[in-house]
Amino acid sequence: MKALVCVEHGPPEKLVLQDLAVPEPGPGQVRIRVRAAGVNFPDTLIIRNLYQFKPPLPFSPGGEAAGVVDAVGEGVSHVVPGDRVIAMTGHGAFAEMLVAPANAVIPMVGDMPFDVAAGFTMAYGTAHHALKQRARLQPGETLLVLGAAGGVGLAAVELGRLMGARVIAAASTDEKLALARAYGADATINYTSEDLKERVKALTGGHGANVIYDPVGDRFAEPAFRAIAWDGRYLVIGFAAGEIPRLPLNLPLIKGAAIVGVFWGAFTVREPETHAENMKELLGWFAQGELKPHVSARLPLERGAEAIAMLMERQARGKVVITMD
Ligand SMILES: NC(=O)c1ccc[n+]([C@@H]2O[C@H](COP(=O)([O-])OP(=O)(O)OC[C@H]3O[C@@H](n4cnc5c(N)ncnc54)[C@H](OP(=O)(O)O)[C@@H]3O)[C@@H](O)[C@H]2O)c1
Repeated sequence: MKALVCVEHGPPEKLVLQDLAVPEPGPGQVRIRVRAAGVNFPDTLIIRNLYQFKPPLPFSPGGEAAGVVDAVGEGVSHVVPGDRVIAMTGHGAFAEMLVAPANAVIPMVGDMPFDVAAGFTMAYGTAHHALKQRARLQPGETLLVLGAAGGVGLAAVELGRLMGARVIAAASTDEKLALARAYGADATINYTSEDLKERVKALTGGHGANVIYDPVGDRFAEPAFRAIAWDGRYLVIGFAAGEIPRLPLNLPLIKGAAIVGVFWGAFTVREPETHAENMKELLGWFAQGELKPHVSARLPLERGAEAIAMLMERQARGKVVITMD
């Protein structure tokens, strides 16, 4: 089988396409013929040894996949060969075959296409958990989404609208903002040409945003926080812009606001029942046509390095997916 392999840590161009033996599923494992794999920001970090999880070399990056069950190990009964499934594995998905622990494999619903399924779980799972359990977003509240055209950002725009919030989308280009508008944003801010704090204030009659969803961090975090409403919730999602920001703690004091951490991967392990309910709700919304995942680019495995580089160069819109056929 072919696999994109990280043999030494470094930028995407260091990845190599290799022919490897097909892995055997052990007890409690499932072998999947991967049809598509979602590209996520952690893939840009894991290959450079900058992510919190550090698989031993050599390894294939790729945290999520959709495909068809090919074989199951002893003790696996919830899926059988031939089933269409989604797998969340952290790494290993940029390969034609993936062996995953059974508890990381869930059946796909209806006729969801493989490329859509491959990029669905992490983006929507993170945004949904953040807005629902962590922020307790209420209908009528104002939600500010930074990086609003990226993977987890665009999902938050769409889910915020669905949950009844007024959504303000912030991103770096007008083209990205047009996409966010198409996904339900009521207002937009171009944070490369406009003052983020002043624009949020102006758009909210001086009150500020009730919930701020921040996958970007760095220099965007403090101006955004300065535009939070009384009793606001600031969701720490990630630091795609680089630096982990430091906030003066007088700011949450003055606003009676909360800084709320979000770690979706840990949530799925620590609170499996709530995670399962969340996935059921998300897949139900998809089946009803309420969610329309945006796959902006599909690249073959041989161009996997290019796919990862698209995220590092801020070119990705919605999801970038690697396809195997
Ligand atoms: N907390 C969790 O559980 C969780 C789960 C999944 C992902 N995340 C994190 O969420 C963040 C976004 O992940 P993603 O997969 O959605 O990535 P993505 O699709 O690449 O989106 C990231 C966005 O960040 C913005 N950005 C600003 N400066 C950037 C820079 N220097 N390089 C790259 N992007 C930059 C870009 O929007 P503009 O060009 O508009 O600024 C881009 O759309 C990452 O930090 C990731 O680790 C966290």
